[in-house]
Amino acid sequence: MAEEAILRFLHNNSEEITDSGQFSAEHNLDHNEVVNVIKSLHGFRYIDVQDIKRETWVLTDEGKKYAAEGAPEVQLFLAVPEEGSISKDELQKKLAPSVFKIGCSQAGKNKWVEMGKQVSRKVQHVEDKVKSLLLQIQEGKDVDKDGISSLKARKLIAPQIWKGYSVKKGPNFAPERKKVATDLTRENLQNWKELEFKEYNFNAKGAPVEAGHLHPLLKVRKQFKDIFVQMGFEEMPTNNFVESSFWNFDALFQPQQHPARDSHDTFFLKDPSTTRTLPEDYVERVKRVHESGGYGSRGYNYVWKREEANKNLLRTHTTAVSSRMLYALAQKPFVPKKYFSIDRVFRNEAVDRTHLAEFHQIEGLICDRGLTLGNLIGVLNDFFSRLGMSKLKFKPAYNPYTEPSMEIFSYHEGLGKWVEIGNSGMFRPEMLLPMGLPEDVRVIAWGLSLERPTMILYGIDNIRDLFGHKVDLDLIKRNPICRVGI
Ligand code: PHE
Repeated sequence: MAEEAILRFLHNNSEEITDSGQFSAEHNLDHNEVVNVIKSLHGFRYIDVQDIKRETWVLTDEGKKYAAEGAPEVQLFLAVPEEGSISKDELQKKLAPSVFKIGCSQAGKNKWVEMGKQVSRKVQHVEDKVKSLLLQIQEGKDVDKDGISSLKARKLIAPQIWKGYSVKKGPNFAPERKKVATDLTRENLQNWKELEFKEYNFNAKGAPVEAGHLHPLLKVRKQFKDIFVQMGFEEMPTNNFVESSFWNFDALFQPQQHPARDSHDTFFLKDPSTTRTLPEDYVERVKRVHESGGYGSRGYNYVWKREEANKNLLRTHTTAVSSRMLYALAQKPFVPKKYFSIDRVFRNEAVDRTHLAEFHQIEGLICDRGLTLGNLIGVLNDFFSRLGMSKLKFKPAYNPYTEPSMEIFSYHEGLGKWVEIGNSGMFRPEMLLPMGLPEDVRVIAWGLSLERPTMILYGIDNIRDLFGHKVDLDLIKRNPICRVGI
């Protein structure tokens, strides 16, 4: 459109285009588009150009407001009754604070109103000159010097440099742009004598390479994994999202009436709804410890049901994997172990800015003879200081499978407060002894979510931007590796 208009104009008229702005207005074209075409035609020397710069005026935000709503002095004048008067307080209530303030001073200066405790009109009628001047400028019309300087003094308009061009025929002028060949196709090569080839532009920027991107959760997971490996931990196999209630709850001495085992908190499977095999003699010992205790425990004193334990679910914590691993360990001559896992867990929860029904847990455990709470505190300090969190506090807590249990808090320098970062404890004898672990073996363990540290590291405040179907793909592509620690 614009290109055709420019070339046709130069071809049909011997004169030049004196002003691209005027030309655009006369031909009903967008000036920006005309400028782009001029630049392109100039590049191929179809045309010669000269810059034009002009100072014009544009409305400031305040100017735009008055152009729409009227000048404050007029608004104020109209708020004063035609006859009689209004109290200044009453008048103030009718107007926005800035309108009242500016309106008072301008209307007073113009001698439109009598200002005292009472305000009354001094003239019958006023004209909104400010508004009409502003509208004229908005429409690109000329405004006289006095008008400009009054609006400028009130900061209702600001200067803007307008840039345009004058244009005339250049050395390569043609009424139509020649189509140049851009590709080395078979046809183009056969007709090369008739064709003009586009020159290579060696300065052009290459197209950005489309590559894969690692998700922030994967990057942070790798760093946690490295820390565990440096500390001598082995990774547990976590490749089963579906677990039986037995390993997820019962083996962990979690009673069958525990609220977490409700379908409001846990996703149970419809098909297959139950597990096929469980180690029967161990199941028997678990049943007994729940019902009547043993190993120095009084148990929970209820009737333990096998059907509850058989129910399949999406594991609600990676501690289900830890219970399987500890049981496996107990089946052989005892060797101490340090295990970790980082994988997905599922909870039937309402989704909000910080909660998803599906997230990741990081879990570490150490299994050895004679471990104490002191060992747990020591290993937690070591682990978290490798993440750059060296100020820790512990708060007594409750888990059905650990005693004692501690919530872990870290001092967040940025937020200036203590934030909860994880949960920990020593697995109960009611859990370890039925498995068959030697009596003096203690297991210390802790768990945390992967999402929370990732959100802190990447400055993300809504978990839905990070994970799930609403994930912000741009965020994934943009973000570099964020290093944990110092
Ligand atoms: N399983 C616990 C949770 O889901 C975390 C935890 C792991 C607590 C190991 C103590 C020991 O929050």
